[in-house]
Amino acid sequence: MSLPPGPQSPAWLQLLRWVLTPTSFMEACARRYGDTVSINMTPLGRIVMISDPAQVRTVFSGDADTWYTGTDRAELAAVVGANSLLTLQGDAHMRQRRLIQPSFQGERMRAYGSLIEEITRNDMATWPEGKPFALHPHMQGVTLDVILQAVFGLSEGERLDALREALINFLRLGQSPLILLPWLRDVTGTVNRFLVLHEQIDKLIYAEISERREASDLQSRTDILSLMLQARDENDQPMTDEELRDELVTLLLAGHETTATALAWTFERLVRHPEAMQRLVAEIDAGEEDKYLTAVIRESLRVRPVVPVFARRLNKPVTLGDYDYPRGTTIVPSVYLTNRNPERFPEPTAFRPERFLEDKPDPYTWIPFGGGLRRCIGASFAVYEMNTVIRTVLSRYSLTADRPADERLRRRNITLTPSRGARVIAQPRTAR
Ligand code: HEM
Repeated sequence: MSLPPGPQSPAWLQLLRWVLTPTSFMEACARRYGDTVSINMTPLGRIVMISDPAQVRTVFSGDADTWYTGTDRAELAAVVGANSLLTLQGDAHMRQRRLIQPSFQGERMRAYGSLIEEITRNDMATWPEGKPFALHPHMQGVTLDVILQAVFGLSEGERLDALREALINFLRLGQSPLILLPWLRDVTGTVNRFLVLHEQIDKLIYAEISERREASDLQSRTDILSLMLQARDENDQPMTDEELRDELVTLLLAGHETTATALAWTFERLVRHPEAMQRLVAEIDAGEEDKYLTAVIRESLRVRPVVPVFARRLNKPVTLGDYDYPRGTTIVPSVYLTNRNPERFPEPTAFRPERFLEDKPDPYTWIPFGGGLRRCIGASFAVYEMNTVIRTVLSRYSLTADRPADERLRRRNITLTPSRGARVIAQPRTAR
């Protein structure tokens, strides 16, 4: 079998560049080899990275039995469980998706508006005024509380506090890019800390599920756990406690850091583009539509995609572009490169929300949420949350950059985050 061309450097060097400097490595590969590149990262394996919209389209329209997800499922299952959307394949995945998707439908999101506003306002009360500070950790606090209250449906109290604390420690374990290298995890004691926290978190979640099953107001509640508890599959079967637990942890892991980082990047871009900021604040003050805000969010997710790649492993042979790939091949669409397609987005590195004022994003060149059967189930939730947080923040504060230079893109586990945590200076708007 012939593979597409790719770097000839030793595999360990390709692996290190992928882990430590993913964006410059992807750019260098694309410059040299084009939109289809073989990358050898043995012992993690070989991948074929693609960024051609026609090939991306083939991946997104592929069926669930051919295009399996690509990461190490056993390893992920240790965290999210075997019944998670992230670990299930084929029909079993589709069954879970049908059960969960209705809870995330666009219109339902409105129920969370005032909750998200309140959580944001509570966090803003802790911001230093007139001094530089990093927004990213604050956005992490906001999105964690949004998940715990809107998705888990917890209200203020001991269980919320205990779960918040355990989860913060748990999430901290996954932050280093070195977590991607299994042999380093064991020697640093990460595994033991992980097991203790895992048990603590499970206990709290199972206690909540069991109480909620019996809650007299279950039918009228709007949080995602209560909606999942009421969901039934085609045989009229509800989700089991294990399935509910696994999906709650999945939603937390997939939805918390991603949305916090997307918010941090949006503010990082806005404070370096004062005309865009001005136009956005004027729209927010006018209090009518959120056309420009939507365009800002789309443009930020385009130039600074939080999840730079995702992976598919072929369960059957597939022809893609000029190549026939056997079963077992890992195909990796690069969100980062695809979103910067110069034919679709002239001056692709420029932050220009106006691009999205007229055109809706094209589903094969704007792919921050992936696509097809595995498209992000929380995409509407994330955009609605970002919209609400940004409006709430900019109604109260005027934000400026602490330094003119752009923050660099730094890998944090599977996400790309602003290298200095999106540092800004906040001034109350009434004081101006
Ligand atoms: C800006 C924020 C977010 C970004 C950029 C993002 C990005 C993505 C991407 C690229 C995928 C596809 C991965 C693949 O194809 O293998 C995905 C899947 C997923 N996302 Fe998101 N996500 C965000 C927010 C959320 C939120 C808020 C939730 C839930 C509360 C969520 C839950 C999920 C789940 C459960 C999946 C797996 C879907 C499946 O395999 O069926 N995400 N996300």
